[in-house]
Amino acid sequence: MHMFLTYVVVTFVVTLRQAMLVSCDSQKRQDKSCENGVCFREEDQGPCKPDDDEPRLFRWDPIKIGHTRELKLETGRKFKMITLASKPPLFEIPDFLSGSECKHIINLANTIGLRGSDLHLDNDLDQRKDFLRGHASGRAGDFANWDKNRDGTIRRDEVIDFAESYKFLYLDPMEVDDMIIKLNLTEFDDDYVTLQEFSTLPTAAMDEYLNDIKEKHPAHRERFSQQAWLLQGKTADDVLKRLRKRVAKLTRLSDRIVRGGEPLQVVKYEANGHYNAHYDSQYQANMSHVKCCHLDLSLLPNCRVCRYATILYYLNDVEDGGETAFPVVDKPKFDKKTYIESMSEDKFNLMQYCYDGNLVVAPKRGKAILWYNHFVDEETGWMGEMDEYALHGGCGLWSGVKWIANNWITSADARWAHYKSDHDV
Ligand code: OGA
Ligand code: FE2
Repeated sequence: MHMFLTYVVVTFVVTLRQAMLVSCDSQKRQDKSCENGVCFREEDQGPCKPDDDEPRLFRWDPIKIGHTRELKLETGRKFKMITLASKPPLFEIPDFLSGSECKHIINLANTIGLRGSDLHLDNDLDQRKDFLRGHASGRAGDFANWDKNRDGTIRRDEVIDFAESYKFLYLDPMEVDDMIIKLNLTEFDDDYVTLQEFSTLPTAAMDEYLNDIKEKHPAHRERFSQQAWLLQGKTADDVLKRLRKRVAKLTRLSDRIVRGGEPLQVVKYEANGHYNAHYDSQYQANMSHVKCCHLDLSLLPNCRVCRYATILYYLNDVEDGGETAFPVVDKPKFDKKTYIESMSEDKFNLMQYCYDGNLVVAPKRGKAILWYNHFVDEETGWMGEMDEYALHGGCGLWSGVKWIANNWITSADARWAHYKSDHDV
């Protein structure tokens, strides 16, 4: 009964919502504003006259690597925009922010407070280790997987090899010593574990310990940083409002699109900080039925991140490391699935493989980089499929602090293109 009622209510809401939508399709031939195809709109957004001055999503042509343009984005100020890559189009704008703007953004983030995920490995493990006696059922339970050089013993460096081969986990010798002490692995007392000693080695606990390190220790996490979000809408201060105008000029996107972008995400990295290679946006093809988050924030997390472009600002000069890596830009061929399958190492790990990639951008205070996470759909001019070459991340930071900010420009495919973003407030 309850299920039935839910069904009725959901169906009713869906039907009502559809009734409220106006399809411009039928007027397509008379109404030029709809010539790019479907342009569904909410009735309360007015008649079928979408923003005529908003024909397609603009996308800069990279021309070629090193190509430099001069842009006048504010009265009396000239900016250089230099092409760093073509696939995806990726540009650098030195001194896009002034030193005082950078400081101002850092101060704002400090004032509202930054948040990271604070996890405590040792406490967790203490509570669980008594339950983890005996051998692991998986690869860790098999002597041969540890004894890499086949000499009948397991040494500390073979523990490092095991973690790398089977878990893409890169331990340093101190971390192995830590594990031996914490798990009380007396089998290592004379430096090596024989096959006979292996029978008492608690590989289930070791396996779990390695998994925990991977998940929780700063150096091994997918991402280790703290973040704060700064609203850039009507309530924002003059510095942020002015920045938003500059971004609209830089991207040549309509004010409506820029206003619908996400709040500015300020990120702070400290020693061991990093962000492994990732995409800022999500695939469209297999998720086209899922609505973009920015169109209805109440759906979170059951929605799709739709970030057409990223503008990343470097807010300080960094001492050592902390570059932004784009491992596959401009590669002649790249397909994520085959890439992952063919990998013997975890190339997504930017603590380890920062410099193996095709492009590495060094942080510099005030510099902005702009790239497109999606193609523009040829037919409709709105957001197309995600560009797999836009894979990127933040390399390991070895000392000092690194501050960046992400300005994410949201958009949607043609079907949703004219809906108002929930960020537009
Ligand atoms: C991000 C990101 C790169 C960097 O925050 O999404 O990709 O250099 N950062 O910090
Ligand atoms: Fe990113």
